[in-house]
Amino acid sequence: MHRNEKQGAAAAQVAKAPIYCEINTIPVELTAAPSKRLLLILREDLGLTGTKRSCEIGRCGACMVLLDGVPVNSCLLMAYQCEGKQITTIEGVAPQSEEGTDAIQRAFLLEGGYQCGYCTPGMILSVKGLLDGNPSPTDEQIEEALSGNICRCTGYGGIKRAVKQAIEWRKAELEANRTERDEPE
Ligand code: FES
Ligand code: FES
Repeated sequence: MHRNEKQGAAAAQVAKAPIYCEINTIPVELTAAPSKRLLLILREDLGLTGTKRSCEIGRCGACMVLLDGVPVNSCLLMAYQCEGKQITTIEGVAPQSEEGTDAIQRAFLLEGGYQCGYCTPGMILSVKGLLDGNPSPTDEQIEEALSGNICRCTGYGGIKRAVKQAIEWRKAELEANRTERDEPE
């Protein structure tokens, strides 16, 4: 085999190397090139279009997902970096709730935390990443957590009110679950 052909065959092997991860709690085998961005894998290969495509340089937060519970810009994450990871997209947030929507999503609806809605999936995942790790964040911590998410049309008043409401609802849900668990059968 000619040297260039050998190199081409080796490159094809790399391109085909499977990558195993979990997306929204479902085990997935990705067959994308190792350098393909997770944002494109989600939208083009898996049809998970709730993750939005915008700046593609890590500035706007529209493409935010959770990687092992931590908010990350999926436009900056390459396929090989997903190996063995648990990824949550906006499609994986709602099914975890009996109501069909998560408390954070309901709070954004109630408080008008969106207008066109393009930034909203990324916002919700950043808020989820924050509250899963810290159920009672300070105003400063909320601002810090949302500093990588840009909204062009709502203004941040409604978004901040939505986060505060979500904090209250999530605390109430936790308390209700605890009471249910502790009740004698
Ligand atoms: S599209 Fe990823 S940060 Fe803007
Ligand atoms: S609601 Fe339109 S960009 Fe945020």
